[in-house]
Amino acid sequence: MQNRKRILNTVTSIATGIMFMLGTSQAFAVTTLKLSHNQNREHAVHKAMAEFANEVKEKTNGEVRIRIYSDSQLGNQRESIELMQNGALDIAKSNAAELEAFSPAYSIFNLPYLFRDKAHYQQVINSDIGKEILASSQNMGFIGLTYYDAGARSFYAKKPIRTPDDLKGLKIRVQPSPTAIAMVKGLEGNPTPLAYGELYTALQQGVVDAAENNITSFTLSRHSEVTKFFSLDEHTMIPDVLLISNKSLNKLTAEQQEIVKKAAQNSSEYMVQLWEKSEQEERAKAEKHGVEFIVVDKTLFQDAVKPLYGDIAKTQPELSEMVNRVRKIE
Ligand code: GCU
Repeated sequence: MQNRKRILNTVTSIATGIMFMLGTSQAFAVTTLKLSHNQNREHAVHKAMAEFANEVKEKTNGEVRIRIYSDSQLGNQRESIELMQNGALDIAKSNAAELEAFSPAYSIFNLPYLFRDKAHYQQVINSDIGKEILASSQNMGFIGLTYYDAGARSFYAKKPIRTPDDLKGLKIRVQPSPTAIAMVKGLEGNPTPLAYGELYTALQQGVVDAAENNITSFTLSRHSEVTKFFSLDEHTMIPDVLLISNKSLNKLTAEQQEIVKKAAQNSSEYMVQLWEKSEQEERAKAEKHGVEFIVVDKTLFQDAVKPLYGDIAKTQPELSEMVNRVRKIE
């Protein structure tokens, strides 16, 4: 914490606001925007955001620069979003699951087996619904610029999970999202919400028995060292989201804002290619290190989470309506 404070103080003094760079003949204004995320620099999402930063710098002729802080250096996802709301950070990458606490529209991504397949998921994020969700946090002080593909999430544990029965009584780490908690409760596991950065130690020390994530994050965060069974149940597809504070967006000119939005979109398309490659590579690495990938009968898991939809229909009419809209997308 001390360390984080120190880094933050330093970056605040050097990177906030506008500096003037002297060109050969005239001065021009440089705005530096700080971007925080929780993955390491090997992760595909870091590479996509580096591409975003490059394009912004190039297209604005160096007038807008984005400095990326990886590995939760400026705080975990929730803390980063709060820093953005307080004006101490410009841009953050967060998983959509965590965003549910800031804007309920993001809950849609946390619902298991709502998307029929990857193509359906892609159609939804590119539809009006996808755009509405990105805009939905405006009154919280920030908006989403784009989604980054983050594959499908599956359970992994210290013992093989072949059917939903195997989850019963297990302490399962979930993202801090009410819907993820409800899903695991419905499967009769014990949901334990934890920040991503705390999970390696929690698995290692037996604070939790299991977790759920995509293959890339599973290996790049070295969870594969301490959990050797990865079940391919693919219960959710939850994108990462690139967020910018309203205040930071508004300090840019209209032209710069367009460049930032377009570059975000382009980096999202680049991420789709990066993702596929990284998942294949990371799976091969995990197998080499003794992880067993288990093919499961997904219909068993789909049946086990059906009551969740009944509960939503009764208690969350807005979400239920959104579920129906998503299902109608062909
Ligand atoms: C994924 C996602 C991260 C998220 C993590 C988690 O890896 O890309 O943004 O933090 O899941 O489970 O917390």
